[in-house]
Parts: sequence; C-alpha cells; structure tokens
Amino acid sequence: MTATKPRRTLVAYSSKNGSTAEIARWIGEELREQHIDAEVAPISDISSVAAYDAVVLGAGLYAGRWPGEAVRFVRRHRQALTEQDVWLFSSGPLDGSATERAIPAVPAVARIAAKLDAHGHVTFGGRLTDGARGFIARGLRKQGKGGDFRDREQVCAWGRSIAAELTVVSNHH
Ligand SMILES: Cc1cc2nc3c(=O)[nH]c(=O)nc-3n(C[C@H](O)[C@H](O)[C@H](O)COP(=O)(O)O)c2cc1C
Repeated sequence: MTATKPRRTLVAYSSKNGSTAEIARWIGEELREQHIDAEVAPISDISSVAAYDAVVLGAGLYAGRWPGEAVRFVRRHRQALTEQDVWLFSSGPLDGSATERAIPAVPAVARIAAKLDAHGHVTFGGRLTDGARGFIARGLRKQGKGGDFRDREQVCAWGRSIAAELTVVSNHH
C-alpha cells in the first residue's frame, strides 16, 4: 500500500460571542492529537477552501438560525464543499439538553447538511456570559439563562469520531 496523503482539514466557525470559536479550537486540538492536519479559522478570514480535503463548519444559533455570514459562506463555497468531506455543528441550547439527547439541526442547517452531503451534524450546548452583546442577550440573562452548557468531552469525542472517519476515508483514496 502506498503512503496515505496527509489530509488537510479546516475547522471554520461563525461566532458572535466567542463560545463557538472555543468549540472550534477544541475540535482542532483533538484532530491534531489524532494526527490530522487541522487549521481553525473564523469564516470571515477564509477566502477559499480549495486547499483543504475536509471542512468542519460550525456556528452559534440565533433565533433558530445560523448567522447570515455562515449561510453565505456555504453559498459562496458550495462548489468546493460538495466535493469535500464536510461535518457541521451548531452551538446553542442554554440548558443541559444537548448533553442528554441528540438535538436535530434547525431546518435551514438540515437543508445545508443535505445539500453538502455532510457526514454529520451535531448540536452542542451553548454559552451565554455577561459579556454577550445585545438587548436580547441581556434579557435572556435576566431570565436566568446565562451559563456555560458546553461539554468539552462531548466535543472532543465528536472530534475523535471525525478523525477516525477521515483516516478511513484517506485509506480508500
Ligand atoms: C439573542 C440570542 C438568541 C439566541 N437564540 C438561540 C436559539 O434560537 N437557539 C439556541 O439553541 N440557542 C440560542 N441562543 C444561544 C446561543 O446560541 C449560545 O449562546 C451560543 O453558544 C452562542 O454562540 P457564540 O458565542 O459563538 O456566538 C441565543 C442567544 C442569544 C444571545
């Protein structure tokens, strides 16, 4: 068997208040620990995804949607993304639900997953801190919805499953 080509993986994220950015970094660290060549970047910094074999794309949920920049990113890079191995994640629920059961993608994100033939989508818990910007964020906090509901081990386990799939895929290339 010939040596397998190193597979370059991009972990791209859209994060208004930093919690999805941190989830993306955890995934990147986990992939590198599993010997995957992974880079992590905000989608605003990415002009092309052509250099990558695989893309993990995640965004925070706002009013039941991904932010517009995440949707536009998919539209702009759709051609390349349909040819790549793609995984998607969302970060949102401000309670323990995401660690207790699988939360389906919101409809628009489910449609993106189908269009890109993504290998999977997962919803992770979110985080709302005192620093979060905006009137609604302040309102949510007043209702006692603040806190950090992300589960790093859950995120890392997902990262490991991606690494395992990437290794299988690259052995078949
Ligand atoms: C204005 C606002 C609206 C939100 N709407 C949703 C929502 O519809 N569904 C959800 O699961 N989480 C919702 N959340 C929680 C965020 O998705 C969560 O805080 C997430 O971790 C934010 O990611 P970010 O820090 O990367 O921007 C909302 C938070 C705010 C502040």
